[in-house]
Amino acid sequence: MSIDYSQKIPNNVNLSNDRTLQRALEHWQPHFLDWWREMGPNDFASADVYLRTATGVDAQGWASYGAVKMPDYRWGIFLADAIPDRRIGFGDSFGEPVWQQVPGEYRSQFRRLIVTQGDTEPASVEQQHLLGHTCPSLYDLRNLFQVNVEEGRHLWAMVYLLHAHFGRDGREEAEELLARHSGDADKPRILGTFNEPISDWLSFYCFTYFTDRDGKFQLKSLAESSFDPLARTCRFMLTEEAHHMFVGETGIGRVVKRTLEVMKELGSDDVQAVRAQGVVDLPLLQRYLNFWFSSSLDLFGSEVSSNAASSFASGIKGRPDETTQYQDHVCADATYELQVPDGKGGLQTENVSLRNAMNEVLREAYVRDCEIGLKRWNMQIQKAGHAFRLKLPSTRFRRGIGAWANVPTDLEGRIVSREEYERRLAEWLPTPADRAYVQSLMQRVTAPGKMAGWVAPPDRGINNLGLDYEYVRLS
Ligand SMILES: [Fe+2]
Ligand SMILES: [Fe+2]
Repeated sequence: MSIDYSQKIPNNVNLSNDRTLQRALEHWQPHFLDWWREMGPNDFASADVYLRTATGVDAQGWASYGAVKMPDYRWGIFLADAIPDRRIGFGDSFGEPVWQQVPGEYRSQFRRLIVTQGDTEPASVEQQHLLGHTCPSLYDLRNLFQVNVEEGRHLWAMVYLLHAHFGRDGREEAEELLARHSGDADKPRILGTFNEPISDWLSFYCFTYFTDRDGKFQLKSLAESSFDPLARTCRFMLTEEAHHMFVGETGIGRVVKRTLEVMKELGSDDVQAVRAQGVVDLPLLQRYLNFWFSSSLDLFGSEVSSNAASSFASGIKGRPDETTQYQDHVCADATYELQVPDGKGGLQTENVSLRNAMNEVLREAYVRDCEIGLKRWNMQIQKAGHAFRLKLPSTRFRRGIGAWANVPTDLEGRIVSREEYERRLAEWLPTPADRAYVQSLMQRVTAPGKMAGWVAPPDRGINNLGLDYEYVRLS
């Protein structure tokens, strides 16, 4: 079904056939726009931004590009095409037809999942509210805004499900999604990482690399859901999400490239010398990676979770690429071996049911995906002739949730004393001085084709345009 842009709310779900739903969403729309004006990119409402807008939901050529003022962006409801005769792909009801409506007994579980996913989308826009003021280039500014408008659309995707399938509760939840705010003392966003401020572009690149990638894995597992409208929504969201991670991976790659150029000119990797040239030294980058990776790991939840088990059993949430990556889709008897702290400073091995370990399965897939970027960045460093290597910390490091929560470990995951942990944190995580230094680099560059000194230009522009294209026309 093609996208109807003649409607107040663009959609491919035949919204005009359901007047009640249409009216309810049209009622929510101005609240969303108020939220966008208040919490969205600060001060850029009148800028013309070279944005892509969804025109279809198929893999080929689903986007059109053009200058748009962000408040005029056509946020709407786009579901991937239905797969005819789609069957439940995992859990106790494996092989049965998928559901077009939420079964009553799973209603609250689905609602919680959709609200939790939905909450992250506007949260990231709020976290990045002020970032535009210090953009390193118009190219980056445009990418930030592209990510922001799409996160806004992802909120629409979840709000549509709430309105269409959860009645009055759903409508109330949709309002609440606009009432909570990132970092708010009284009404914060639901998940910790989404309350961390993103006040510099290095954090933005790390966030889009690590935290949007968590989004990817959550969406992949929800794209397997037996509740077909949720699965179809998430499938289309994944096509948009890919660009966000591209921004992160290439962003960090460009930081590495620029730093290596400076190290070559200097003939030195001395941190103070490198910093004197106004670029990000590699150990500092490593500390940022440590911070955002460990923070994002908690988003997957506890290693052992009866909630995850029941979500899998009942067909609510599967594993990423369930069909192609796994043979056993029921996992009734399979077990999973976990290494957990024994509470006495050592380790013990626990055998748990695989269903109970689904959060950990998801986290493992995520970590493997994270490794890909590190390989690429390390290749750059290696080619430049340096021994330094960027590394993901152990998944045990600095965890706030699960078996390793508040267990002090070093970056390799070895349990250390609380005293050693506190003492060495400054080696492992960005210090206030690191953050102040990064902040000092954040100078706004808005001349077309120009780039801040701490980051290399990208390999190519957007949609085959040149790097000197005016991706954002500021008025
Ligand atoms: Fe998103
Ligand atoms: Fe995203």
